[in-house]
Amino acid sequence: MSVSLSGSCLPPSSSLIPIRQLVVASEEQIAAALRNLQALYCPLRLPTAISKPAPKWKHISGVSTPSPIDSGYASRDEKQFEDDVAVSEEVTAALRADPYERTFATRWLTSLISRVEEMGFDEDATASIIDDAAFILSSFSDFTKDEEEEALERDFSFPTASGGKVEVTLNDAPLSGTDHTDVGLQSWGASIVLSSMMCADHERFGLQQETLGERPTIIELGAGTGLVSLTLAKLLPEFGVTGANIVATDYHLAVLDNCKLNVETNFPSEQPPVGIQILDWSQPPADLQSTATMLIASDVIYAPEHAAWLRDCAAHLLKPDGTFWLMATVRKTGKFEGIPETVESAFVPKLCPKDASGRVFKILQKETVEKRRSIGRGDESGYNLYRIGWV
Ligand SMILES: C[S@@+](CC[C@H](N)C(=O)[O-])C[C@H]1O[C@@H](n2cnc3c(N)ncnc32)[C@H](O)[C@@H]1O
Repeated sequence: MSVSLSGSCLPPSSSLIPIRQLVVASEEQIAAALRNLQALYCPLRLPTAISKPAPKWKHISGVSTPSPIDSGYASRDEKQFEDDVAVSEEVTAALRADPYERTFATRWLTSLISRVEEMGFDEDATASIIDDAAFILSSFSDFTKDEEEEALERDFSFPTASGGKVEVTLNDAPLSGTDHTDVGLQSWGASIVLSSMMCADHERFGLQQETLGERPTIIELGAGTGLVSLTLAKLLPEFGVTGANIVATDYHLAVLDNCKLNVETNFPSEQPPVGIQILDWSQPPADLQSTATMLIASDVIYAPEHAAWLRDCAAHLLKPDGTFWLMATVRKTGKFEGIPETVESAFVPKLCPKDASGRVFKILQKETVEKRRSIGRGDESGYNLYRIGWV
């Protein structure tokens, strides 16, 4: 990674040495990458060095009366320089706040720490690389008082097909403001719309005993606050499904802590019907292979690699007769442009996983779901609901 000519940092995702090439990178390359990540993410500790150019004064001959070059307080060059710095700071601030770039940098730094011993540098260089990488990672979890916001308790009430109601209370924790990977601390529109759809028409989601069978295992991927899992835990007994093993999973520890709190709030009993488990889509645990009767995921496609990770993770976890419900949020602007389409690109025939019995893991059905008024954020234009499974 490097600093661009304008002085603003370049995005980690397009400038860091690819993780698989780390082991052949030189000490200088790693040091430069770390310096620049520090410039981007620890600006107060290590300001980006933007050297101020010497003002270029117009040459005024000694015989003429000197006249001001600029009627303002600063020369045009100085103003231009100040404007450039302001723009560059704005670009850097936007980059610093970008959750995708931060996740990318986190993964890169974590990989660097785990591989640096194999890179053949001497002991001091290895130790200093580990220190610098850990320093940047630690700044991601800094949480100053000033940035604290009030946690918000939200009550949801979803009408069910039998005329009842499923009620869920959630703690939408404040985003830390510094760790931009903690997006799962808040409930997103897709999880609210999906929960309400499941309550309104549970049969269409196969949420009855005949379809799910005895003691089904339902795993939510990227569960965030756990709204969908909690809704299911309250909905299923209404339709005679008992003994379901519902597991809300996520890869982010702060998100899982908040999810656990939500489970305790909704099920103060000692044996809550929703379990919590860490699960990273890029490395699903081997022991969960073919264990899920149903998989559910909402608003989990917001970076280019997510769809392919989720495809492979779901193929690993789902039983041959299971169903994967994926509710993808459609955002068409900015860095999300093109992301909703990655779901279908990940399931073109040649990329669909196949099992030993010749079954293919593919999209069986797609439905577009409209955005609902006052649900979800302004950049959400709707949702795509996919039914995915083995055939
Ligand atoms: C936009 S939030 C959606 C949360 C929740 N499903 C909802 O709709 O409110 C995306 C969630 O995916 C999780 N996530 C992102 N990358 C992940 C990964 N590689 N493995 C597991 N979870 C991940 C995040 O921590 C976050 O909780």
